[in-house]
Amino acid sequence: VVVDKGQYRHFMAKEIAEQPEVVGHTLTRFVDMTSGRISLPAGADFDFSRLDRLAISACGTAYYAGLVARYWFEKFARLPVDIDIASEFRYREPPLTPGGLALMISQSGETADTLATLRHCRAQGMKIGAVVNVPTSTIAREADVVFPTTAGVEVGVASTKAFTCQLAVLAALAIKAGRDRKVLSEADEARLVASLIEVPRLMAETLHLEPEIEKLASAFAKAQDVLYLGRGTSYPIALEGALKLKEISYIHAEGYAAGELKHGPIALVDENVPVVVLAPFDVLFEKTASNMQEVAARGGKIVLITDAEGAAHAGETFATLVVPKAYAFVSPLIYAVPIQLLAYHTAVFMGTDVDQPRNLAKSVTVE
Ligand code: AGP
Repeated sequence: VVVDKGQYRHFMAKEIAEQPEVVGHTLTRFVDMTSGRISLPAGADFDFSRLDRLAISACGTAYYAGLVARYWFEKFARLPVDIDIASEFRYREPPLTPGGLALMISQSGETADTLATLRHCRAQGMKIGAVVNVPTSTIAREADVVFPTTAGVEVGVASTKAFTCQLAVLAALAIKAGRDRKVLSEADEARLVASLIEVPRLMAETLHLEPEIEKLASAFAKAQDVLYLGRGTSYPIALEGALKLKEISYIHAEGYAAGELKHGPIALVDENVPVVVLAPFDVLFEKTASNMQEVAARGGKIVLITDAEGAAHAGETFATLVVPKAYAFVSPLIYAVPIQLLAYHTAVFMGTDVDQPRNLAKSVTVE
C-alpha cells in the first residue's frame, strides 16, 4: 500500500487528523448500528462469561491502551485484569489459568517482546486474543482470535490513530464482556454503545483546538521537564502524553497518577515546569483539582485539559484547553487528541524529525 502525506507536513499530523474517520470505521466493525449493541466481527466472536481473569500485555503506547482497558473490564464486566508490559510479563511468572484469555495489543503485530509474551502464554495453555492493526502480521497469525483495528497504515513512529483505534476496540470488548457476564443490562449496554458512537464526532470537534495548542507549543519548547497528571482512566492518558512528548520533542516528560504527586514528584515543580492536567468534569474532578492547587501553590505552570464545566470550576491556570463534554467512559479517546497535538506542535516548533525521531524504530523486533 502506498500512502502519502497529502496536504500535511508530516505523517503524524495526517494520522492525528484521520482519527475521527478511522475510529468511526473501527467501531462499525464492533457495533451493530441498527440494534445499538456490540457485535464482534465474523471470526472474532468470543464469550467472556467463563473467564476468571484476563491477562493483557503490550509495549509502549499499546500498553497504555491496555491500562485504560483494565479500568473498563473491571468496571463494566467485573473481570479482574492482570496487565504488564510485555518485556516484563514473563519474568513475573504470573500464575496463568490454562484455558484463560491472554490479550496482546500491537499496532505492528511484530513487536518482539509482545510476540514472546504471546508464545509464553500459549505454552501455558492460554487462549490468545490480539488487538492488532496489521492483519498479516506475526501476532495476528499466531493469535486464536483477532480483534482488528482498522486504523490503516500508520507511518509516524509516534503512534496516534492506532492508539485511539485500540481504545475503541477495547471499549467494545469490555462492553461485550459486561453483557456476557451479566453485569450490564441491555439498557446499560445501549447507553454505553450510544456514548461510544458519539466519539468520532467529539474527536472531530476536539481537533479544532489545534490553533490554540500550536500557540502553546512555543512555551513547551522552552521547558526542560514536563509533568502530566491524570486520575482514573486519565492516568494512562497522562502516561501517553508524556511518552509522545519525549519521543518526538526530546523534552523530558513524566506521567503520574494525580494523587501520587505529593509522594515525590512535586519536588520537581517550579515556575519552569509545565504541568499538564487531564481532568474531565467527572466524579474524580474535585480531587484532581486539589492536586492542581498543590502545583499552583509551588508556581507550576498548569495547562488544564478539561470540558466547559471543569473550566468553570478550575482555579487559575497558565492555559486551559476546553474539549467537548463526553461521557466519562469515552473521555480517554477524546483527551488523547490534545496531548498528541501538543507533542506534535512542540516538536515542529523545535524542528525535530517528527515522523522519524532519533533512536526509534516503528516496530521493535528485538527483545
Ligand atoms: C509509540 O508512540 C511508540 N513508538 C511505541 O511505544 C509503540 O507503541 C510500541 O513499540 C509498541 O508497538 P506495537 O504497537 O507495534 O506493538
